[in-house]
Amino acid sequence: MKSLFAALVAVAFLAAGTALAAEAPAGKITLKQSASPKQGAVTFDHAGPGHKALKCDACHAKAEGGKIEGLDMKKGHETCQKCHNETAKADAAKAAIKACTNCHAKKA
Ligand code: HEC
Ligand code: HEC
Ligand code: HEC
Repeated sequence: MKSLFAALVAVAFLAAGTALAAEAPAGKITLKQSASPKQGAVTFDHAGPGHKALKCDACHAKAEGGKIEGLDMKKGHETCQKCHNETAKADAAKAAIKACTNCHAKKA
C-alpha cells in the first residue's frame, strides 16, 4: 500500500513537471501599493482554491508568468475584481469574494 502511494506520488510529480514548464511562486505575494494608498495592501496566492487551475495568461501577458507591469487600480481591478464579481454573481456561496477586504487588508 505504502509503495503504491509512493509510486502514485512520483507519477503525479512527473505529470506536473511536464505540464507546468513554468512554476508560479509558492506562498502569498503582497502586491506593491501606490504612493498614498486608500486601501490596505492586496495579497495574492497562486495556489489559492480559486486560482490554482487558472491558465497563467489569465493574469500574465506570457504563459511563463513574470512581473505584471503597471498593476494599478484599473489594471488590478480588471485582472482580479472582474472575475471575483462575476463569480460572486453566479454563485451565492462565494458572494464574499467580491468584498473589498477579501483582497485588501483592513487598514489599521
Ligand atoms: C478567474 C477568476 C479569478 C481571478 C482572475 C482572480 N481570482 Fe481571486 N479568487 C477566485 C475565486 C473563485 C476565489 C474563491 C476560492 C474559494 O474559496 O473557493 C478567490 C479567492 C481569492 C482570495 C481569498 C483566498 C485566497 O486565495 O487567498 C484572495 C485574497 C484573492 N482571490 C485575490 C485575488 C487577486 C489579488 C487577484 C488578481 C491578481 C485574483 N484574486 C484573481 C477567482 C479569481
Ligand atoms: C489570477 C492571476 C494570476 C494567475 C492565474 C497567475 N499569476 Fe503569477 N502572479 C500574479 C500576481 C498578481 C503576481 C504578483 C505581481 C507581480 O509580481 O507582477 C504574480 C507573480 C508571478 C511571478 C513572480 C514575478 C516576479 O518577478 O516577481 C511568477 C514567476 C509568476 N507569477 C508565474 C506564474 C505562472 C507560471 C502561472 C501559471 C501557472 C501564474 N503565475 C498564474 C497573478 C497570477
Ligand atoms: C479581487 C481583488 C480586489 C477586490 C475585491 C478589490 N480590489 Fe481594489 N485593488 C486590487 C488590486 C490588485 C489593486 C492594485 C494593487 C494595489 O494598488 O494594491 C487594487 C487597487 C485599489 C486602489 C488603488 C490603491 C489604493 O489603495 O489607493 C483602490 C482605491 C482600490 N483598489 C479600492 C477598492 C475598493 C473600494 C474595493 C471594494 C469595492 C476594492 N478595491 C476591491 C484588487 C481588488
